[in-house]
Amino acid sequence: MCGIIGVTGGEGILETLLDSLGRLEYRGYDSAGIALESPWHPDPGRTSGEATAGDDRADRLGATLWRARAAEGTASLQALKKLAQAAPLEALAGIGHTRWATHGRPSEVNAHPHLDCTARVAVVHNGIVENCRELADHLLAEGHELASETDTEVLAHLVEAELAQAQSTSQAQSTSQAQSTSQAQAEDGGLPAAPGVLAEALRRVLPRLEGSFALAVMWSGEPGRIVAARRVSPLVVGTESTGTGQSRSLLASDIPALLGKADRFFVVGDDEVVELAAGCVRVSGAGGERIDPSELEVNWDLEAAQKGGFDDFMSKEMHEQPQAIADTLLGRVLGDGTLTLDEVRISDEELRQVDKVFVVACGSSYHAGLVAKYAIEHWARLPVEIDIASEFRYRDPVLDQSTLVVGVSQSGETLDTLQAVLAARRSGAKVLAVSNVVDSSMARQADGVLYTRAGPEVGVAATKTYLAQLVALQVLALYLAQLRGILYPAETDRLLGELAELPGLVQVALDRSDAVARVAARYEGTKDFFFLGRHVGFPVALEGALKLKEISYLRAEAYPAGELKHGPIALIEPGTLVVGVATRTRLWEKMMANVAEVKSRGATVVLVANDGDERSAAEADEVLWVPRTHPLLAPVIDVVPLQLFAYHLARLHGHDVDRPRNLAKTVTVE
Ligand code: M6R
Repeated sequence: MCGIIGVTGGEGILETLLDSLGRLEYRGYDSAGIALESPWHPDPGRTSGEATAGDDRADRLGATLWRARAAEGTASLQALKKLAQAAPLEALAGIGHTRWATHGRPSEVNAHPHLDCTARVAVVHNGIVENCRELADHLLAEGHELASETDTEVLAHLVEAELAQAQSTSQAQSTSQAQSTSQAQAEDGGLPAAPGVLAEALRRVLPRLEGSFALAVMWSGEPGRIVAARRVSPLVVGTESTGTGQSRSLLASDIPALLGKADRFFVVGDDEVVELAAGCVRVSGAGGERIDPSELEVNWDLEAAQKGGFDDFMSKEMHEQPQAIADTLLGRVLGDGTLTLDEVRISDEELRQVDKVFVVACGSSYHAGLVAKYAIEHWARLPVEIDIASEFRYRDPVLDQSTLVVGVSQSGETLDTLQAVLAARRSGAKVLAVSNVVDSSMARQADGVLYTRAGPEVGVAATKTYLAQLVALQVLALYLAQLRGILYPAETDRLLGELAELPGLVQVALDRSDAVARVAARYEGTKDFFFLGRHVGFPVALEGALKLKEISYLRAEAYPAGELKHGPIALIEPGTLVVGVATRTRLWEKMMANVAEVKSRGATVVLVANDGDERSAAEADEVLWVPRTHPLLAPVIDVVPLQLFAYHLARLHGHDVDRPRNLAKTVTVE
């Protein structure tokens, strides 16, 4: 959770930080903060701010740190922008943070960046330092003073402690800043040949940390330098060279934060240390050895990370669903109708050996996995178990080399899912990641990866990534069926044809948004919702209820319709709204019998039904119409009116649909 950003070099560092923080807000918005490094100036009035470094000799040769933080929930970034009006005019580098609280309640004192005792080291951090209590005790015993309840502040003090040691051993960086600057220009366009003092200090800190982190550090003793590292948590580095001497380097928790600001992107590996100076980046390993960072090919454009004329990201992203599906299908079907999954690094032979599939995921990704269970079992005739990742991790699943574990995670960073797939790999199973983020942690840890191509999703509620997951998993099911020779070619052809029609059918469902809004308006005052479905309609019901809960804050329970009479039906009374997924599958008659049961107990019924299905309409108080497709593909379409229903209700209730309370887009904590 949390988003971090860092910029060094070029003009407009403050503006870049604030803009990128806006794009990272989906990762958490309990507080926001920045630290700027500006050239030391004899007039203290030039550097007024909440925290400035002392004006000792060292800082006269270095820089001054200025920090501003705001903890006003969803208004934090706005408040930070006001504070930033008092920022120093000139900045050499800056780091920023948007927080989803883990250690320490949301408050200004717990907001990042955190400083060391001397206020010369500033740190931003995403992740959790699990042994922070033990480290803090050690630091306190050494005389450090900690101001916050966070694990991050510990990092600033650890760096402070290691700086002294690093300074005495680092010969290349042992003299003045002026010397290192000229050396830098001579040797690496902005960085000296050997890692700097701050990099050395951070390298010494890393082995002492347990947990997951992506962190960025500035030290006023090395002006214009940002040093960063990661373990498990995401971190991307970018550079931009304008050719006019305005080069800059940046880092962020995700690629969208850097779109339009960097023209080259690099990956940082676990426990590597990356140093950023204007326009150049140097990565080194645990022993200080230089590492060539691998460059990322980024096809996302800036437009994709902005609202593009919609009121909010959720609405933009729902409307991008047809494209997300089409892009996810792109290139998977060859001209002769056969399927190819070229990004899967598990051989066909290995896939043929698979005798059992496990799907592990959380939230909406879990709901996509539930649909995959029906599809893989039906088409590929393989047994499928599905588990919530946080449960899978702590039980004792029976896995071996012929088990395929499919980890589904749009971010590829969800800690529970990531740990689940790592555990599966340790057990010898083959792991396939289904991820929307290229080179995400899960993609890197898996044996193979099947990318969904939904583009960046900013709204906290998963929409387009969910539909893209459904389609990717359906393609996987068909691919396994093809490898196992289960389906006749003509049958596969027909299904591929139906898959290709999905973008158009989803568009039809989206075009009915106004009709869904009218239905939502009629139930604005309703407090209790039940979502029912059978077969693949059940995961659709689960997803509809989750959307309603997370953005409308309304109580919504989802059940397999046949389960209702085993208890939950006791809750049905006049005033309860039941939303049923009643599109045509072979269980439609049974579904309608369940609808009759709730109606006879006074419930109001809204049904998702196929166009022209008058029999469903006759049983319902309201109908959300959708086009018909193959029953196993139907979830892709049937969930759309439920997304829209939750969206319109949330707006009627005046909620921020992109940033629902208590939630973060990516859950990188247990
Ligand atoms: O990035 P992931 O797909 O692993 O995320 C999993 C869940 O946290 C996510 O689907 C969550 O439930 C969404 N907020 C649902 O809208």
